[in-house]
Amino acid sequence: MKRSKRFEVLENRPIHEDGFVKEWPEVGMIAMDSPNDPIPSVRIENGKIVEMDGKERKDFDMIDSFIADYSINLDNAERVAKMDSVLIARKICDINITRDEILDISLSMTPAKMNEVVCKMSALEIMMGLAKMRARISPSNQAHVTNLKDNPAQLAADAAEGSLRGFDEEETTVGISRYAPMNAISILIGSQTGRPGVLTQCSVEEATELGMGMRGFTTYAETVSVYGTEQVFMDGDDTPFSKAFLASCYASRGLKMRFTSGTGSEVQMGFAEGKSMLYLEARCVFITKGAGSQGIQNGSVSCCGVPAAVPSGIKAMGAENLFSTLLDLECASSNDQSFTHSDLRRSTRTMMQFMPGTDFICSGYSSVPNYDNMFAGGNWDAEDFDDWLVIQRDLKIDGGLKPVREENVIKIRNKAAKAIQATFKGLGLPAITDEEVEAATYSHGSKDMPKRNVNADLKAIEEMMESDTSAVDIIKALYNGGFKDVADAVFNMQKQKVAGDYLQTAAILTKDFHVVSAVNAPNDYQGPQTGYQISDERWNEMKDIPWAVNPEDY
Ligand code: 5AD
Ligand code: CA
Repeated sequence: MKRSKRFEVLENRPIHEDGFVKEWPEVGMIAMDSPNDPIPSVRIENGKIVEMDGKERKDFDMIDSFIADYSINLDNAERVAKMDSVLIARKICDINITRDEILDISLSMTPAKMNEVVCKMSALEIMMGLAKMRARISPSNQAHVTNLKDNPAQLAADAAEGSLRGFDEEETTVGISRYAPMNAISILIGSQTGRPGVLTQCSVEEATELGMGMRGFTTYAETVSVYGTEQVFMDGDDTPFSKAFLASCYASRGLKMRFTSGTGSEVQMGFAEGKSMLYLEARCVFITKGAGSQGIQNGSVSCCGVPAAVPSGIKAMGAENLFSTLLDLECASSNDQSFTHSDLRRSTRTMMQFMPGTDFICSGYSSVPNYDNMFAGGNWDAEDFDDWLVIQRDLKIDGGLKPVREENVIKIRNKAAKAIQATFKGLGLPAITDEEVEAATYSHGSKDMPKRNVNADLKAIEEMMESDTSAVDIIKALYNGGFKDVADAVFNMQKQKVAGDYLQTAAILTKDFHVVSAVNAPNDYQGPQTGYQISDERWNEMKDIPWAVNPEDY
């Protein structure tokens, strides 16, 4: 066939490097509305659910049993099951119906009912629902802070810059897994240097993560994963009960914690039972509720490429975020992992959460270059900071970030690198050299950093973990090293765990360590001039991109 030049041009566009698949319900390659999704139903006898979503109790798998026993408010359950799903869908996006009125209904739904209701809504209506149902009144944003070389000076500098840029939570992980404690300490110190009160965590294997939290190296945890089919759960040697137990461990030590799930994980692991990705995600969100977690990170997350390959996959990611809010959970709404070669497509994917605002629009905006993102690359990264600021300014939507001055970034990066240098000295960890401090101050990514002796680092980490080193030693090292303000901030973060107020739904901390959560700052959106309003002060900050032409200069 003689080729059309038009088609040849189109085929060379970045979008053609993405993978697309037609729907294949038998294996679960379908985002929404699988013909095999259960029909909603519920029957209660003697205060117990005996039938749910077309299954009798004797046929329940462990997920069904857990949800039936712990996740559903039984008071309204039978009434809600009989309500018309279209009518409920309309209420969810109707500004005249309050968030509390919706919760009265949604907390009594079964997973199949919630799935059916949300499947009646358009992408725009899902956004309207999210704007009203988000837990905290103010939206926020979370950063990924990682690097290919696990360099502590750079991690601290990047965390400090991230705090200055406005992130309320920062998350790291590892290149080499044994680096975990060092990375956790590095972003803890960096974050508190940039802006006291920023929460930090290190995503690694669960026992290590809990251990680091108990030592005070981290101030929240997030990647407690749950799945929508029994086989996938069992593959990870887990049950809803083991996850609930883990959640309680965090709570008992006063650490903020949320679960993680998302569409596509079950089909990716080969056990989707022919159900839609969205229905299986409904089960995950219900498990999260039943286990007593205050919140969830969902929106496909690290499986983003799977739903993105099938029709309405991006819509499903918005829909699953709405599920979380319908169960009155904090929602950190993904927008983290890179899934497309197309700039148009990656921005569009984010609009589902950016427009309405969520508790954390990105549950990992990569605040480092793409090559340094150890969560397999970010949908947004450090190179996109100015684009994000302009999109906020264009639409007058608060996406959580603020313009910064180069000189301030350099200053704070330098201070953080010196603070981690002093901490390492105090803890007896392998020295951070002045050369590393200088490089981290001005670096863009790990390619700009000198090499460290990895073996020496790993040996020192092992010794530190064999001892009872904790945040107290970090605070002392900072204090003795002349960083009293950072020491104070790290100390204050530990005090939060004793007070426990930041365990409330969707809690974040201000620079003065005031908790802002769904308890003292609940979302009360009901249409124009209600809910979160951008203050004049915040708008002036958002508007002020340093590279805009200033009339006074003429
Ligand atoms: N389902 C469950 N857990 C997920 N994670 C990311 N995406 C998902 C998902 N769709 C968790 C995993 C992973 C970490 C980065 O987040 O635990 O290791
Ligand atoms: Ca995250």
